[in-house]
Order: sequence, then structure tokens, then C-alpha cells
Amino acid sequence: MKAQQPPLIAPSILSADFGAMREAVLALTEGGADWIHFDVMDGHFVPNLTFGAPMVAALRPHSHLPFDVHLMIEHPERLIPDFAQAGANSITVHVEACAHLHRVIQQIRELGCGVGVALNPHTPLESVRYVLPAIDLLLIMTVNPGFGGQAFIGLMYPKIREAAALIQRDAPHVLLQVDGGVSPDNARELAACGVQVLVAGSSVFCAPTPQAGVAALRLALMSQQA
Ligand code: DX5
Ligand code: ZN
Repeated sequence: MKAQQPPLIAPSILSADFGAMREAVLALTEGGADWIHFDVMDGHFVPNLTFGAPMVAALRPHSHLPFDVHLMIEHPERLIPDFAQAGANSITVHVEACAHLHRVIQQIRELGCGVGVALNPHTPLESVRYVLPAIDLLLIMTVNPGFGGQAFIGLMYPKIREAAALIQRDAPHVLLQVDGGVSPDNARELAACGVQVLVAGSSVFCAPTPQAGVAALRLALMSQQA
């Protein structure tokens, strides 16, 4: 049985200082993050409004890390080309926001980006069963989307374990990502459930430095390796 690699760490810039976003991305890039997670919110699909493709484009020159764009927006098909053009490496859409999910998956793929699908806490895994082989990343939300700093929804552990089993059975190439309330206190257990990408906003940016926040997650995961 191949030893499981520790999860990748994808800090979310939602919790960064919006007045110093370039510095935040530089700190994450030099501070050991694996990906950078961009939380795009439209004020309709979720009750918050953040930023659009111009933010991705503005930060693209300042980091070589993969840009993991999480679209919490209605009608994502309208803006996907802009995010691909801006330099997104991967684009994740919510199954709840897509009347024609398979068509949106094709759209992202044709633009040369990695394809992610996100499920809100209440949404069953069954909703992605038939498209799972066509995607690269499955995002299980462990908070209700819209804000950073929320408490992890422990009810999601069975869903995370079931998602790992479904991926193993039907689409072993798919990465399992968890997003919301991730911290050094639960990183080990999430890794043990088979999670391969951890998104963390407040636990990274509420640390003394973003580098220290990433290091604290890595330390928690290393103890999982023991
Ligand atoms: C919530 C976002 C998450 C959030 C994570 O809608 O999708 O990425 O920013 O922030 P924390 O880690 O603070 O829960
Ligand atoms: Zn997110």
C-alpha cells in the first residue's frame, strides 16, 4: 500500500489583508504554501462579495504557485473564461450553481484549466457520482460558504470518508479537497480520512505570520506521519 503523501496546503487569501494582497501572496509563496486559494463570491450564491478575475490577474505575476480558484457564484459559465485568461490553474464550481454541470466541466477543460467541483455541506455525494471521472478535484465544504473564520462542521467527517472511498473506487486521479474551518487541530484527522488538499484561511492569516500559519499545519501533519 503506497504510503499516503501528506496533504497539500492551499491558504485562502479571503483572510488576508485586502490592502496588502501582493505582500500576502509573496509571503505564502516564500513561506511554503503549495497552492493559493482564491475565494470568489458574488453576493448572490453566497451572502458575501469578494473579488473577480482582475484580482487573479494582478497577483499572477507575483507567484509561481498554482492558483486554485473557488467560484462561489451563480452562472459560473459566464465568468470562467475571464478566470482562465487571468491565470487560474484550476477552477472549481459549485454543483448547486450549475444547471448543466457536465457542460461547465467541459468548458473549464477546453480552456486548459484543472476542473474542480464543490459540494455545500447539505449536498449529497451522489450529485457528482456520474461526472467524477471527468474532474480533477472534489471539494467538500466543511463550512457554509461565504465567510472565513467559521467553525468546522464535524458532521462532514462521514461525507469526507465516503468521498475518499468513492474517489478510490471510481476516479483515483481525483484530488479530495476540504475547505472551511481547517486548522492544526483537525488537519491530522482530515489527512487520516484521505484528504489530499487542505484549504485554510483564518488559521494561516491569524497566525503571527502566514509562514508560521503554514508551518503549524505542516507540523500537525508531520505528527500524523509518525
Ligand atoms: C468559505 C471559503 C473558504 C474560507 C476558508 O466560503 O470557501 O475558503 O475562506 O476560511 P477558513 O479557513 O477561515 O474557514
Ligand atoms: Zn474556498
